[in-house]
Amino acid sequence: MKINNPLSSFFLILFFSILFDLCIANDVMLHNVVNFGAKPNGKIDSSNAFLTAWDLACGSTKPSTIYVPRGNFLVKQVHFRGKCNNSEIIFRIDGTLVAPFDYNVIGNEKNWIFFQGVDGVSIVGGSLDGQGSGLWTCKASEKNCPSGATTLGFSNSNNVAITGLTSLNSQMFHIVINGCKNVKLQDVKVYAPGKSPNTDGIHVQLSSDISILDSIISTGDDCVSIGPGTSNLWIQNIACGPGHGISIGSLGKDFEEAGVRNVTVRSVIFKDTQNGVRIKTWGRPSTGFVNNVLFQHVTMIDVENPIVIDQNYCPNNKNCPGQVSGVKVSDVTYQDIHGSSATRVAMKFDCSKRNPCRGIKLEDVNITYKNEPAAQASCANVAGTTTGIIQPTSCL
Ligand SMILES: *[C@@H]1O[C@H](CO)[C@@H](O)[C@H](O)[C@H]1NC(C)=O
Ligand SMILES: *[C@@H]1O[C@H](CO)[C@@H](O)[C@H](O)[C@H]1NC(C)=O
Ligand SMILES: *[C@@H]1O[C@H](CO)[C@@H](O)[C@H](O)[C@H]1NC(C)=O
Repeated sequence: MKINNPLSSFFLILFFSILFDLCIANDVMLHNVVNFGAKPNGKIDSSNAFLTAWDLACGSTKPSTIYVPRGNFLVKQVHFRGKCNNSEIIFRIDGTLVAPFDYNVIGNEKNWIFFQGVDGVSIVGGSLDGQGSGLWTCKASEKNCPSGATTLGFSNSNNVAITGLTSLNSQMFHIVINGCKNVKLQDVKVYAPGKSPNTDGIHVQLSSDISILDSIISTGDDCVSIGPGTSNLWIQNIACGPGHGISIGSLGKDFEEAGVRNVTVRSVIFKDTQNGVRIKTWGRPSTGFVNNVLFQHVTMIDVENPIVIDQNYCPNNKNCPGQVSGVKVSDVTYQDIHGSSATRVAMKFDCSKRNPCRGIKLEDVNITYKNEPAAQASCANVAGTTTGIIQPTSCL
């Protein structure tokens, strides 16, 4: 067959592309999950279709796109494993992945949608609905409930981008980045009720070169939680609330623990949250540390504990000999933090007796309580400096 007309050759390619599920535009392989049996009706288990698409994308030596069209796709636990034969796999999602309504189906898994050992994976758009409310009700009634799955987990992966994704009603954490390098989350939306238990928005640990940008997080636990071994983390332009704020910690639960270094939190609005910017460590021995942190341009709206370092965390007072934290906190700057506290103590530094906080800097902090200059600061085992306006009056 000879084809001279470029238009007809275009249609010929398009025809074969649809037939074989391979779109050859720009040499990218396109795999539409519907072509592997995924059903957009929210009822038929589509897990295998997703796994088949992944195997093709991962096995290909060319960049590949997995496409999820509009509709609701019921997906059970899926594990997307590397190492792959190419380092550019895009999940382009127009629809919603829905977890099973019965929380027991994935409730004992650590992760619902789990990527492990991948390089160069992007998720663009789409929604993930964890259907967590049944499990939260179970937990509230103190029955014997599964602990619940993280909605989206990336472990031991590099060069990951998550853009325009919405996570709804996770059973446990929404998104966990663990053991990764170079991950960018942007335009992410996280929604769960303020009373949903342990539904942290984005949790980062043992990872470096991570950015979380331009995102909205409304949930029942920390909007962002930062675990041991995190370095070079940049968080900017976030709306947090309801939720428990942005928290470095809890750290120092284990004796041998990697530290947290070089964290920037800039241009964040906290509204009706339990905490604003927090550093939290267990009151027990540890090799951990927190060093070089900047909280900058932060607005607090009726936040219960706007600025807090708490080194005496010890639920049920168990295994905290002497209530002394080994975690060394140093070089933490609070710059241009303003707004309102929902409680009288707007600034609280409760540091370790053995390892006092060092290098705490306050610059232009103005937090009011009930529209009066009645807010207070409280200090224990902390040293630092202040510049500019500081309200409530500093206790450093
Ligand atoms: C990568 O390509 C090789 C050779 O074509 C193949 O044997 C292998 O199974 C592929 N890897 C994956 C993860 O599919
Ligand atoms: C701190 O992290 C930022 C990214 O968040 C990076 O650009 C910068 O180079 C890091 N600084 C050091 C001293 O590692
Ligand atoms: C602190 O903020 C309040 C409310 O915005 C404002 O009325 C007050 O003048 C500020 N205080 C200082 C010292 O700038």
